[in-house]
Amino acid sequence: MCGIVGYTGNRDATPILLSGLARLEYRGYDSSGIALIDKGQLMVRKRQGKVDELRSSLEKSGANGFIGLGHTRWATHGAPSELNAHPHVDNAGRIALIHNGIVENHYEIREFLLGQGYHFNTDTDTEVLAQLVGHYFHDHLAEALQKAVSLVEGAYSIAVVAPEDPSTIVATRDRAPLVIGVGQGEYFVASDVAAFIEYTNKVIHLDDREIAVLTPEGVQTFTPDQRLLHKKIQTIDWDLEKIEKGGFDHFMLKEIYEQPQALENAMLGRINSECDKINEIDGVLPYLKNASRVYITACGTSWHAALIGEYILEQIARVPVEVEYASEFRYRDPIIDKKTVVVAISQSGETADTLAAIRLAKERGATVVGIVNVVGSSIARASDQVIHINAGPEIGVASTKAFTSQVMVLALLARALGLHNRALDARQAGNLAQAIEAIPEMVRAVLATAGQIKEIARDFLYLGRGLNFPVALEGALKLKELSYIHAEGYPAAEMKHGPIALIDKDMPVVCIAPRDNTYDKILSNIQEVKSRGGQIIALTSEGDNEINRLADHIIHVPETVPALYPILAAIPLQLLAYHIAVAKGLDVDQPRNLAKCVTVE
Ligand code: G6P
Repeated sequence: MCGIVGYTGNRDATPILLSGLARLEYRGYDSSGIALIDKGQLMVRKRQGKVDELRSSLEKSGANGFIGLGHTRWATHGAPSELNAHPHVDNAGRIALIHNGIVENHYEIREFLLGQGYHFNTDTDTEVLAQLVGHYFHDHLAEALQKAVSLVEGAYSIAVVAPEDPSTIVATRDRAPLVIGVGQGEYFVASDVAAFIEYTNKVIHLDDREIAVLTPEGVQTFTPDQRLLHKKIQTIDWDLEKIEKGGFDHFMLKEIYEQPQALENAMLGRINSECDKINEIDGVLPYLKNASRVYITACGTSWHAALIGEYILEQIARVPVEVEYASEFRYRDPIIDKKTVVVAISQSGETADTLAAIRLAKERGATVVGIVNVVGSSIARASDQVIHINAGPEIGVASTKAFTSQVMVLALLARALGLHNRALDARQAGNLAQAIEAIPEMVRAVLATAGQIKEIARDFLYLGRGLNFPVALEGALKLKELSYIHAEGYPAAEMKHGPIALIDKDMPVVCIAPRDNTYDKILSNIQEVKSRGGQIIALTSEGDNEINRLADHIIHVPETVPALYPILAAIPLQLLAYHIAVAKGLDVDQPRNLAKCVTVE
């Protein structure tokens, strides 16, 4: 994981790098560091803990320079500590390097370098890279980096500076994110545009193994064999306001409240086909219609959206779908042929396991459809067809608006596919369109009324049936991520086969029980919990009084068609997890041990 940022220009680099790091903290936050070049001297400062620790240390020492690198870490090799934090410097002190990713053959390279007389101060794979670049650095930094990475196996994004070439940053990537920011007389390199959007919205996306050389005079990009490239400069339509908290206490809360707008953006132009963005959905229909098999693959919250997608696509479009954890997909030798479609869902578009699943699918000739939020991300670029969810930047580590927007896009896709393959007639498609269009207003209503339940307990159980089983999984995941409370999501009827043994008066059970065809059955399951003394928090349809006599807390959710209910039901569960975490005094936007974007497998 980790976030990297670099700056070269004519301003003081320190505040630019620090604000960039603060915006990249979602990628990891166990330690951070900075390297500056000032009057030909290299200065490196690192701290264990969050970027604020580094900020205070730099304020005391007043380190400056017009060029520098910054890094915020999520430990893979070597404990989170000041020593292991980046930047790493080679033995001769001639280069400083930051890295996101994993050098899989670091042991082998370390042995080679030890044989050449180098010594190591840390156990990190990154120090190996620093020594290797130093080893090849004679007078051409880009050449040294290119030579070093040609020996590396693994995924990486890397940036390097050297006092001997005091205004140049050299950077490269392979299967880890890296974007270049193009300013006027100043250039940036970072894991994510959020790091420099304050200064420029003009970007260049590097492709795998390309090398970029940044100086205040300009940026040059090269192929791995050092041929000059002419890459397009793109304009990003995110602005600073979108990535600030906008008056909310936490990014997560802001993102929960942004859901009506995010959902409107996700559906924009995708119901009546007059807008360009419909084409993103239209483009994938022939592949799905003629597919021999459809897999949906994803990780974390996106995997929960995938499970809902399976139900929706099967129910509405009558297309059989299999859902796979991306991290498991390639290890089970999946059956893939040229008519297979693999749909990969990812908020960040950078999750390493999802990217690896895509690579395998493509090697075997499948068509890959990416459903992503981040435009220009690796998954967006690796996919044959992309559908953007258009949710805007999601900064809180726990995914919220991206999840509901993913479900919305899947519902839109199911509707379009149902029409395309005639599983839906015009009247059914019209009814579904109406239900879809009503969702943002319903979400506003849920946000206005969802109580602030702050049940704090040791364990929680979440139960749902059918389409709401993945919602139960997502509710439990939100609680675990944010509150460090053990929570399990279960299909309500399966509870009898095990979890029921856990139920006593200290066990809150969240039951997702809309008035659909599973209602009577789930009511019996709730009764079973009640008889064993469990506390019931029930999510049910408005106007439902039957559940009142069983539940300790009731949250009403407006009625909609079953396929769209998960969007409405997810919101009170997000708020429940949020308020419990706040009541426990925890860091909601950056829970311990997690990262927003998991770029290691
Ligand atoms: C991390 C995040 C989750 C996210 C998952 C998949 O674990 O903390 O919120 O759901 O990665 O990420 P993606 O960007 O591929 O959706």
